[in-house]
Formats: sequence, structure tokens, C-alpha cells
Amino acid sequence: MAEFKLPADSRYQDVPGRTHAAPAGATRVKTFRVYRFDPDGTDKPRIDNYAVDLDRCGPMVLDALLKIKNEIDPTLTFRRSCREGICGSCAMNIDGLNTLACTKAIDEVRGDVRIFPLPHLPVVKDLVPDLTNFYAQYAAIKPWLQTRTPAPPDRERLQSKEDQEKVDRPSACILCACCSTSCPSYWWNSDRYLGPAAILAAYRWIVDSRDEATGERLDALDDPFRLYRCHTIMNCTEACPKDLNPAKAIAEVKKLLVERQH
Ligand code: SF4
Ligand code: SF4
Ligand code: FES
Repeated sequence: MAEFKLPADSRYQDVPGRTHAAPAGATRVKTFRVYRFDPDGTDKPRIDNYAVDLDRCGPMVLDALLKIKNEIDPTLTFRRSCREGICGSCAMNIDGLNTLACTKAIDEVRGDVRIFPLPHLPVVKDLVPDLTNFYAQYAAIKPWLQTRTPAPPDRERLQSKEDQEKVDRPSACILCACCSTSCPSYWWNSDRYLGPAAILAAYRWIVDSRDEATGERLDALDDPFRLYRCHTIMNCTEACPKDLNPAKAIAEVKKLLVERQH
């Protein structure tokens, strides 16, 4: 039977957290229930409750987190950078779904807003997961153009509009990890299964008409664990905040591997 490999002390086990009340006079109050854990400390993980005055807060979950950090509790730790769905840093589990805090509207959540780090990754602190393995898997698919023939001396390597369209959508991946960390196969086998984000990235180079390492790229994926741990559960595509379809890309890679045998 498969076993999860997360440190047992990072699991939330109903430890009562701290409660931060809303300011006096606030009339439109929403409670944010946020996972707190510092692996370097001795406290067990807990859920802290922050009552936020929505009349004095921006519309997105990231706005509320920034307000909490700036005005209520500076010890809360999370990643963010662009605040417009481009950098992928603010990926977390909000209301039970992996998504980006900066593009998730507070109004979309009924009741309290429950916020956890992306699931099944070691926690660095609070809402910050350790993405070391995730990035190593991305690097392993060699996400750059590989060529053997010399480039034309007087212009770029061109491709047709149709060929560009094949790489256009997969290139929009922001490496947020929402897909891979929503995949049950990845939870169980993240040490050997590449996961949907890395395979989508591999697919982007496999279908690039300018790339000349297609065979090697397919060879590297043709493995019972690296690729074939995908069982088409589709959580990945459901989770993607950029509306990409990593499950379809994985299916296309499997199809290409079958086709090249004939
Ligand atoms: S389709 Fe494959 S990669 Fe996507 S969630 Fe399912 S098993 Fe994981
Ligand atoms: S495919 Fe979507 S969910 Fe997965 S890493 Fe890329 S942008 Fe994030
Ligand atoms: S802060 Fe960059 S994607 Fe949310």
C-alpha cells in the first residue's frame, strides 16, 4: 500500500489556534482560517482565525493575506510577487482547491475562507511549500530549445503560424504547481513520477517544430514511473488557474510513444 512521505509533524491535528477579532465598528466581516506551522519551532501546526473588515480590504484573497500580515499579524508567511496571476508564487489551497490567491476573489468563497499550503509538499513555513523537487523535475525535462543544425546566419529559426499555435498554450504555464500538487499519483510517487507540470513542459518542447531532440525527449519520458503513473484522473486540468490542459498533454505524449513504435 502506498504511503505518503510528508513529515508527520506538519499535519494539522485539530490544535486550537489563535483568534484575532475584527476591529470595533466593522460591519462586513469575513473570517480567514489560516494554516500556521514553523518546522523550526516546537509548536504543532494550528489554524489561526483572522476576522477581516472587508470594507477596508481589496477584493482578492491575496489582498486579505497582505492586510493580515501588514495590520494584524506580521509573523504570517506566504509567497507572492506579481499579484496578477503571472508569477505563480501565491499558489495555495483555498477553500479546498489549489489556486492563486491573487486571482481568487474573496466573494467566491461562502462562509469562512480556509487557507492551507499546496498539499503533500514539505512546509517551509505557514503557506510556503518546499518546491525543490518540483523545480528539479522541471529542470530534468531540459526546458530549452535543443538543435543540431546551425541556425540561419541572417534570421531567427522561423516556424509557421500553425506550428507556433502548438506551443502557444503550453508555453503559458507559470509553474505554480497547482496541478502537480492536486494529483493523487504525484502525492504518492513524487520522487519518481514527473507530475503534470513537468510533463506539460516536456510536451511543449516535443511539439516545437524547431526542436531537434524529439526522440531523446520521448525516450526520457518512456518510463513506468516518470510518465505512466498518470492514470487520467484529471485533477490537474481542473486545478490549473491558467486554463491549461496538462492531462491532455500527457495523453498526447503517450500517443506519440505508441505511434513511434509503428
Ligand atoms: S490526469 Fe494524470 S497528471 Fe492529471 S491529476 Fe490525473 S493522474 Fe495526475
Ligand atoms: S499547468 Fe497550470 S497548474 Fe500546472 S504549473 Fe502550469 S500553470 Fe500551474
Ligand atoms: S502573486 Fe503572482 S501569481 Fe499570484
